[in-house]
Amino acid sequence: MADDNAKLACTRDELDKASYLTRKICFKKQPVSAIIFAFEGSVYAYVNHCMHMHRPLNCEQDAIFDETGLYLRCSMHGFIFDPKTGECQSPVCLGQRLQSLRLKEIDGVLYFAEKHLTLID
Ligand code: FES
Repeated sequence: MADDNAKLACTRDELDKASYLTRKICFKKQPVSAIIFAFEGSVYAYVNHCMHMHRPLNCEQDAIFDETGLYLRCSMHGFIFDPKTGECQSPVCLGQRLQSLRLKEIDGVLYFAEKHLTLID
């Protein structure tokens, strides 16, 4: 359990009150941020890094979804992504995927379930 606590992402309650949350993490020895959100009843997390020009999805706006709420959207140039797979739907990066981060939920608490991940703060 100590290992789980070291990878605490958030509570389900926190996530239900926000459109998304971010956490500073170290993943595969790189300091990055993670985005965590609920979509259609399931929870998802990705490294917050758009492959187009290497920006966080929320770099220009405090949002990670497009106006329909059906796609993740990078606020830099507007590329959209499938929230369930992280796959880019925009032509330039079509088929490339955001780096997904596995989560596990125990009693309403979400933990990162990635071996090569630690929290930065
Ligand atoms: S940096 Fe994300 S769409 Fe260009």
